Amino acid sequence: MSDSFKEVLRSVRESALKEIAQARTEEEVNQIRIEILGRKGKLTLLLRRVRELPSQERPWAGEQANILKTELEEKIEELLVRLHDEEKQRLLSQEQLDITLPGTPLLRGRVHPITQVMAQIVDIFTRMGFQVAEGPQVELDYYNFEALNIPRDHPARDMHDTFYFSDEVLLRTHTSPVQIRVMESQRPPIQIIAPGAVYRRDSDISHTPMFHQVEGLMVDEGVSFAHLKGVLTFFVHEMFGEGTPLRFRPSFFPFTEPSAEVDIGCVICHGEGCRVCGGTGWLEILGAGMVDPEVFSIVGYDPEEVTGFAFGMGVERIAMLKYGINDIRLFFTNDLRFLTQF
Ligand code: PHE
Repeated sequence: MSDSFKEVLRSVRESALKEIAQARTEEEVNQIRIEILGRKGKLTLLLRRVRELPSQERPWAGEQANILKTELEEKIEELLVRLHDEEKQRLLSQEQLDITLPGTPLLRGRVHPITQVMAQIVDIFTRMGFQVAEGPQVELDYYNFEALNIPRDHPARDMHDTFYFSDEVLLRTHTSPVQIRVMESQRPPIQIIAPGAVYRRDSDISHTPMFHQVEGLMVDEGVSFAHLKGVLTFFVHEMFGEGTPLRFRPSFFPFTEPSAEVDIGCVICHGEGCRVCGGTGWLEILGAGMVDPEVFSIVGYDPEEVTGFAFGMGVERIAMLKYGINDIRLFFTNDLRFLTQF
C-alpha cells in the first residue's frame, strides 16, 4: 500500500471531521458534503485514484476509502438531524403559548327577530284554536282585490301601491287573499291565521317594499264582534303584557262591515303622549272587522247562515313597538350588531 494514499486518506478524514465539528448551520453542512462527497469532492476524487494503484493494493485501498465514505456520510447525517432539532427547540422556546389570550368566539346563527315575533303571534293564536293557513305571494288580482270587494277604482289598486306582473297577476299587498282561498276550499266552521310576506311600493323609515302580516279569520254560526274583541284582547295582553289597554276605533275596509282599527296604549309613554304616538297616547296595531256579507256571497257562503270576523296586523310594526325600534329598515339591512341583540 502506497504510503502517500494512506496519508491522503488520513488527511481527508481529519480535515473533514474538523470541518464537520465546526459547522453551525444546515447550509454549512451541505456545503461540506459537496466539498467531500460531491461529484468533484475530495473523497470522490480519491476513490477514483484507487484504479491507478498497483493491483494488489487496490482492494484494501478501495475498502478503506469506502469505509471513510460511509463514516463521513453518517457523521453528516447525524449532524443535520441535530441541527434540525436544535432549530426546532429554539423556535419552540421563542413561540410561547399565552393561555391568557381570549379565544376566538364561534358565531352562532340565530332566528331573525321578525321570524321570532311571527312565531310568537302564531303561538298565541294557535293556543286559542286557530290553525295556520298559507297562500301564494304571487297572487291573482281576483283574490287580492276583486273577491275582497275592492273595486276597480280603489286607491290600493294604483300602480303606485302594487307590484304588478300583468293586469291579472301581482305581488299580494296583504294577507287577506288567504281568507278567500280558505273559504273557497272549506266549509265553516273556520278558524285560521295566515302569516306571510306581503309587498307594497313603499320605502321610508316606516315602510319597506316587503314586510309581513298575520291575517286572522273566524267564521261560524253566531260569531260576533264580541268574539273579535275577546280574541284580540287576549292577543294584546299576551304580546304586550296584561295591563296593556286597547281600544277599537271605527274605520273602513271594503271586505269588513263594520270595520275597526285597534290601538294599544303607547308602549313608550303609557298614555302620556309622546313623539312615537304623536301625542295621542295610542298606537295603531291592526285592522279588523266583521266579514262583509258581500264577501260571503262571493265565496258561496250564505250570509244569512254564518257570520265571521277578520283581522290583519303588520309583524314589523308589532316587533318595533315591542322592542322600541324606530326604523323598520334595520330589520332588512343584515347588520349583525342589530340582529344579534335578539
Ligand atoms: N288587509 C288589511 C290591510 O292590509 C287589514 C285587514 C285584515 C283589515 C282583515 C280587516 C280585516 O290593511
